[in-house]
Amino acid sequence: MRGAAPVRWHALTRGREVLLTAGALCAVILVVTAILAVALPQPEREEAERGLPQLAGAHEIGLGVAVAVDPLTHDPDYQSVVTDNYTSVTAENAMKWEHVQPERYQFDWNGPDAVVDFAEHHGLDVHGHTLLWHNQQPSWLARGDWDTGELREVMREHMEALLGRYQGRITSWDVINEPFEDHGPRPRENLWYQVLGEDYIAEALSMAHEIDPAAKLYINEFGIEGGGAKTDAMYSLVTDLLDRGVPLHGIGFQGHFVHGNVPRDLAEHMRRFSDLGLEVTVSELDVRIPEPPREQALRQQEQEYQHVVQACLEVPRCMSVSVWGVSDQHSWIPEWFPGYTAALPFDEDYEPKPALDGMVEALSRRP
Ligand code: XIL
Repeated sequence: MRGAAPVRWHALTRGREVLLTAGALCAVILVVTAILAVALPQPEREEAERGLPQLAGAHEIGLGVAVAVDPLTHDPDYQSVVTDNYTSVTAENAMKWEHVQPERYQFDWNGPDAVVDFAEHHGLDVHGHTLLWHNQQPSWLARGDWDTGELREVMREHMEALLGRYQGRITSWDVINEPFEDHGPRPRENLWYQVLGEDYIAEALSMAHEIDPAAKLYINEFGIEGGGAKTDAMYSLVTDLLDRGVPLHGIGFQGHFVHGNVPRDLAEHMRRFSDLGLEVTVSELDVRIPEPPREQALRQQEQEYQHVVQACLEVPRCMSVSVWGVSDQHSWIPEWFPGYTAALPFDEDYEPKPALDGMVEALSRRP
């Protein structure tokens, strides 16, 4: 028995120690939580509790990002930004004609497959971009001396290949990209227009629908976000197509904005189209800042990103907001708009910028 008492005493002491340690731990957790609750502003707190994808999900919208194949398949930091913050991806270049069918009948599926496989593996949606566009066409297509029958055949081959390969896996497509002139209301006289005539748009949409009847078919355009002649021209085109029963399901508002020039009335212009029963998206958002990007500009960019996401939330059938690139390191802006930079929500080192807070703020409002 002598030995028993100390043992029991020891057990009691240990029990007390455990209790005390557990108590102290609880107290520390409570204090840290309280400090965090006071120290972090509301949006960051919400983000800490629920990620951007969950916040977007609560509003039933998607948050997308344009991805490049090389970093998507090689750079873990790049991958994490995509999977932690977004719910869908768009191939920035890999599904464009020059990459996917560089020679007639020769398809390169490496890039597109990598994007779709990555997305599926991580439970992300994929938006298909793009079937008919005047840019990034391979020379065999652009320089071909086509008659109408041949070009129709080429169009069908291309659509059957892409829509067919990803049927059920890519559920929305930019069938037509940038059908109007850069700065005007006139139709763009691209290859398709020249050979097939203005109705190439209706023809392409009908063909795509025939090949994949379940896919949501979009026209994607820039410079229609703030109203004016180009927006009106798009509206006339779309109403005409719908009146004729052409299968068109959505309009992508690209949203390549200049800092200080994000249209205040973006929601109003998107609503005009959604009132026709169409889906709308902000499909390629970036807000470029003149060099050098000062602190104040980056803070104002936060408001601009917030405004765009808020606009989508205000418009029925606004399905998603997609940004055009994973980080400022990968943005097309410095190359295409010399003198401009810092257009995206993550900086060159994958650090989140105020713009990301702007999206969180918009999405943190109660649905
Ligand atoms: C851009 C890509 O971001 C660049 O890498 C490429 O060199 C050119 O195209 N509108 C579109 C997108 O629909 O496909 C374009 O993407 C940007 C403008």
